Amino acid sequence: MQDKQFSQIDGALNKAASRVLATSLSSLMQMPNRDQFIYQFEDLTVDCTRQLLDFDGLTALLRLAENCQLQIRIGEMFSGVPVNITEHRPVQHMAVRTPDHMASVAYQKLFAFAESVRRNPDNTSVVNLGIGGSDLGPKMVTQALAGYHDGPVCHFVGNICPTDLHDVLAKCDPHKTLFIVTSKTFTTAETLANAMMAKHWLEQHGVDAGAAMVAVTAAGAGARAQAWGIDPDHVFAFADGIGGRYSLWSSVGLSIMIAIGSENFSRMLAGAYAMDRHVQQAALAQNIGVIMGLLRVWCRRYLQLPAYGLIPYDQRLASFPAWAQQLEMESNGKSVDRQGYPLQLPAGPLIWGASGTCAQHSFFQWLHQSVDITPIDILVAIKPAAGLDDQIWHDHHKLLAINAVAQTEALAKGAPNLAEPHRHFPGNRPSVLISWDQTTPYALGRLLALYEHITVISGFLWGVNSFDQWGVELGKQMANQIQSGESLEHFSPAARAFLDRLNAPRT
Ligand code: F6P
Repeated sequence: MQDKQFSQIDGALNKAASRVLATSLSSLMQMPNRDQFIYQFEDLTVDCTRQLLDFDGLTALLRLAENCQLQIRIGEMFSGVPVNITEHRPVQHMAVRTPDHMASVAYQKLFAFAESVRRNPDNTSVVNLGIGGSDLGPKMVTQALAGYHDGPVCHFVGNICPTDLHDVLAKCDPHKTLFIVTSKTFTTAETLANAMMAKHWLEQHGVDAGAAMVAVTAAGAGARAQAWGIDPDHVFAFADGIGGRYSLWSSVGLSIMIAIGSENFSRMLAGAYAMDRHVQQAALAQNIGVIMGLLRVWCRRYLQLPAYGLIPYDQRLASFPAWAQQLEMESNGKSVDRQGYPLQLPAGPLIWGASGTCAQHSFFQWLHQSVDITPIDILVAIKPAAGLDDQIWHDHHKLLAINAVAQTEALAKGAPNLAEPHRHFPGNRPSVLISWDQTTPYALGRLLALYEHITVISGFLWGVNSFDQWGVELGKQMANQIQSGESLEHFSPAARAFLDRLNAPRT
């Protein structure tokens, strides 16, 4: 019964796609009541009027959401059902942004530690050693909220490339630096290698590494952190059900708390919590997370557009695309469904992006005139960051925001010029314009939670498990095999030749 219904909806969506592809975005934008494609939550405005989608298409998408029992799936996730079926775990990142959790002993302990680091004049730098979700989230938020940064300087080292750690150590005083070893599993090769080097650096300078290193790890890995040599009082655990790429809200955000203070951190959690409530409670047709999740599916599956761009018009949000890239691509870059059957149609798109306006002078040429069409989200605050209060900064910020809206219009409408084909702008290129008042901790938390929900909701719609990442394992295993000196027989001759060169005596 459900399959038959799905086929009907799928058919309606394919028809809707053919219909809108045969028309123009300009004409869709002029349809009556087009402003119903603008969604509002508090001061967050999500303008989807420039999507290649009409009302019938939207209705069919909402039927798809119902057919997938989306509200039930969302409810299950919030209520702690183990929706991460391959790892038999619930999904717990929303739980750490509830007011109850913020009042908990574990959180208060974390906050007290963060505040003690902030007050200590002997802590002039903090270095977070972590990779993937243990790096991208805290780094992005710390940069995004630079205007609120009144704690010690925070550095982030993710890569096992020696220059990453080397160049950060060169800026730090070994007697005034705190290292946070952040690893959910406490087994990640890059992080442990960097932590070992940091320990060595401290000891070389006569510093007790035990006092200068703390760990952030999943509850189930706490013993590993202790065995590694971290003082048990300095192990800040988080729930095993919080996935790495969803973890910045937990103790993984310790570097953020140290940078901006626990009150600002709590405001960020409050913004995320407000978005959680919206996604949990709003009707499908008004639910911004649902609409944006449906648009991912619409663009990828029905318009067959394989990539999706994220362009924050905010230099402090320059790392947002990298964070969202891990979030969406590690979550939905899958080719089997939750039951393990091959997907008939592709799931999560390629996510990429960079900050505007710099991106306009780089790859926007391709967005405007290449044969490929790539939908994008353009993100911009109406007001400049806190602290840039003078009128001249407001005027300067206006130039930025004007560019943001101008690009969405240019991409959508284009400008025909058949006399000079090189100047011809075909238009018809969809975007979503996302805007809010000002990038405060609250507004940032709300925005980031929205992207988490877009990821999870589109994952539910695609039928994949958005909470595991088995695809990263094979490459790690092969690196381990090489490192441990196991037989290399099954490696290709080219790989063996490369390794011979690598192992040749230094000249
Ligand atoms: O390699 C993938 C991954 O497992 C990510 O999912 C995770 O964010 C990252 O590695 C780091 O893992 P950990 O926090 O366990 O060191």
